[in-house]
Parts: sequence; structure tokens; C-alpha cells
Amino acid sequence: MSEHDEWVARDAAVVWHGFTQMASYAENRPIIVDRAEGHELVDIDGRRYLDAISSLWVTTLGHCVPELDDAIKRQLDLGAHSTMLGNGNRVVIELSEALARVVPVDDPHFLYASDGASAVEQALKVAFQHWVNVGSPRSTFLAFGGAYHGDTIGALSLGDDGFGADVFNPLRFPVLRAPRLDDPDCFDVAIRMIAEHAAALVAVVVEPSVQAAGGMLLGVEAGFARLGAACRDHHVPLICDEIATGFGRTGTLFASERCDLRPDIMCLGKGMTAGYLPMSVTVVNDRLYRSFLGDDLGERTLYHGHSYGGNALAAAVALRHLELLDAWDVLANVRERSEELEHLLHDRIAPKPAVREVRLRGLMGGVELAPPDDGLRWGRRVSAAAVDRGVLLRSIGDTVILMPPLTITSRELHRVVHALSDAIDDECAP
Ligand SMILES: Cc1ncc(COP(=O)(O)O)c(C=O)c1O
Repeated sequence: MSEHDEWVARDAAVVWHGFTQMASYAENRPIIVDRAEGHELVDIDGRRYLDAISSLWVTTLGHCVPELDDAIKRQLDLGAHSTMLGNGNRVVIELSEALARVVPVDDPHFLYASDGASAVEQALKVAFQHWVNVGSPRSTFLAFGGAYHGDTIGALSLGDDGFGADVFNPLRFPVLRAPRLDDPDCFDVAIRMIAEHAAALVAVVVEPSVQAAGGMLLGVEAGFARLGAACRDHHVPLICDEIATGFGRTGTLFASERCDLRPDIMCLGKGMTAGYLPMSVTVVNDRLYRSFLGDDLGERTLYHGHSYGGNALAAAVALRHLELLDAWDVLANVRERSEELEHLLHDRIAPKPAVREVRLRGLMGGVELAPPDDGLRWGRRVSAAAVDRGVLLRSIGDTVILMPPLTITSRELHRVVHALSDAIDDECAP
């Protein structure tokens, strides 16, 4: 047995991998990461892989960035964690002040958690209790087809069917469902639904600009602005889930900016700590926040909190990350590399008969394959073939996702497209 196979066997014996059928885990040739350097992962045999999915969309500036490492080391000497329940922590205050200067939310307040789904769960509870607190309880959310907001039961309810959600249908609460973002009528329909159901709506929930896990579905940005206006006109809070799009992914710091949106609540996670530590946050505007103010320990209080919410190590790296995004003008690189990737995909990938559509916004890309029959698993096979060529890719169904780090270089982009092109040619031969 090779060293790699031994590690895979040890892994499969004790680790349960999410979104992974463990009965065939080993056969699918997983890589076992030994260490990470810059934009690459190095496996236990010393083979290198360009991390073109940013470790599931979290890595922004690469791995082992000295400035980020230092921020964590400095905070370690000051203490790794203290609870946010009823007490504060200096670095969390500093992070919140820094975020308050850049988030497109009016007079924001920051409720921290660890994973994206928890930030969504908090958002829906805050929106729900807001209406209880102002004496107008209601329980209906409006969300979009193709949406994905995480895997906890509340987030799974807001998300569309698919992604394995259906098995939990008896536990999911019903929502009003607007069409998917790739339906040209989706905003007209959603706006009509808002007008019709305004008095029953807790909130409208949307992924601004791009439905990520839906397969990188691109929304018409002017449509979002109309959606935001309809929410305002009908006094329905707008929740923007920027867990995938936040922190520069689409070329602006937040996708809400490109869509002319000022959400009442915004959910952030993933790239917040540059991919270093789990941290998410639910950002709430002052108007909603104020409805929670009242008697000490009274019923208006938000009785919600996670053990590691506002972790100091995560806050320290998130704060330094925010500074570096600015100091290194990372968004300029996102925009330049996005243009370059667009050309590369247009020239090298889109013309292939095996490709149905190429979608890209900022550095969020999806290459949808067009298998002639069901069950061919082209997405999976193309991704595996790219991994064999030293580029780590992953598919959602038959859409191969491209989510390189925000600091990706031109040369590395060529490497990604080259590997993808060869992988499609090999796996999708007529
Ligand atoms: C838009 C969106 N919301 C929520 C989530 C859930 O985040 P997490 O996996 O950190 O729970 C994701 C994850 O992909 C996402 O893309």
C-alpha cells in the first residue's frame, strides 16, 4: 500500500466528510493535504495542486500569508478567545468599527457566529423577532429558486430544493419561492409577490448578484435594485446573503454595492478571515436593532449566541485581512484577472461542444457542461481529471466551479484554464 493509500484508509476509517458518499470516498482519489503554500496545496506525497476553489471559496490572499500569520500570533499572546455573551473584547470591537466603515448597511450592529449557515440562522431569527418586538408578528419568508443559504434547518428552508435538502422536507418550513436568478422574469415575479404578501412577510432573502451554489447563476444587477426598492416601499426587510460574494469576490468589496442595495440585514462569512479561521457575522441595521432594546433580560432581548461567536483570533485575522485588501489593492486584481479569465474562457472553453454555458462575475465562475445523457457525471470526471493535472477543481452537478484566490496571477489563471480545457477534451469526448 502506498503512503497515500494508507492515509486515505486512515481518513476513511475515522473522518466523515460532508457532501461526500463515504462508501466511494476512497475510490474517488481524494488528495490528502500535508501543507499549503501561497495558492497551492501540497499533498502527503509532495504533489502540488493550484487551489482553484479557494478551499471551498474561503481563501482570498492565499495560504500562509506572513502578515495574516503575524496577526494571529500577536493575538495569541493576548488570548485566543473570550465570550461575547454579556462582555466585550478589544479586537472584536476594533474589527466591528472597521467593518462598520465599509458595509453597505445603515448604522450597522454586528452579531458574530462561526459558519455561514449560523449567520443566516441568526438573520432569520432577528428578522422574525423584530416583527414580534414591534407587535406585528408574521412568519413568511420570500426566497429565490436556485438559492442556497447553508445546511442548518432554517437556512435549508430558505434554500431551494436539491443539494440533498429534500430529505429534510418534513423539517423545513415553507417559504414563498420566486424564480431562479437565471429566469429573466424573476424580479418582476418577486416584486409582485412582495406587493401581494407584504403584510405577511418577515423578510426577503437573496444572494446579491450571483447564486453561488446554485451553479454560479448570474442575476441582472438592475433587477436587484428594483427588488430593494420594492422591499423599501412595502416595508419588508431585505436580507442579503453575502457569504459567498462578500470580501471582494465579485470585484467590489460587497456585491450589494454593484446591485445598488442597502440591506437591512447582511450575512457574511467565508472570506471574512481570508480563509484562516471560522467566523461569520450577521450585520443588522440600526432600525431593526432598536426594536430589540428594552428592559434588562426582558422579552425584547435576542436570546441567541454561539460559544465561539466573536473569537478573538478570528477577529484579529479578519481585521488584518480588511487592511490588506485595501493596502494591496486586491479588488483591482480581481477586476483585471476577471477580465482576463473571461477572455480565456471565451476563447478556450466556451466553443467546445461539451460546454453548455460559461458564467463569470468577478472571480466567481461556472462552466456548465452539456452531457448528452443523464448519469455520465461529467462534472465530477472533469474535476478529477483537472486534479490529476495539478489544479484542484470541484463541480456542482455538471457545472465546474472556478473560484481562485483573489490574488491569483495571470500565469496561474492560464494554468487553470489549460488544465480544465485538457480535462474536458479527455473526459467529454463525443
Ligand atoms: C450564499 C451562501 N450562504 C450560506 C452558505 C453556508 O455557509 P457555511 O458553509 O459556512 O455554513 C454558503 C456556503 O456555500 C453560501 O454560498
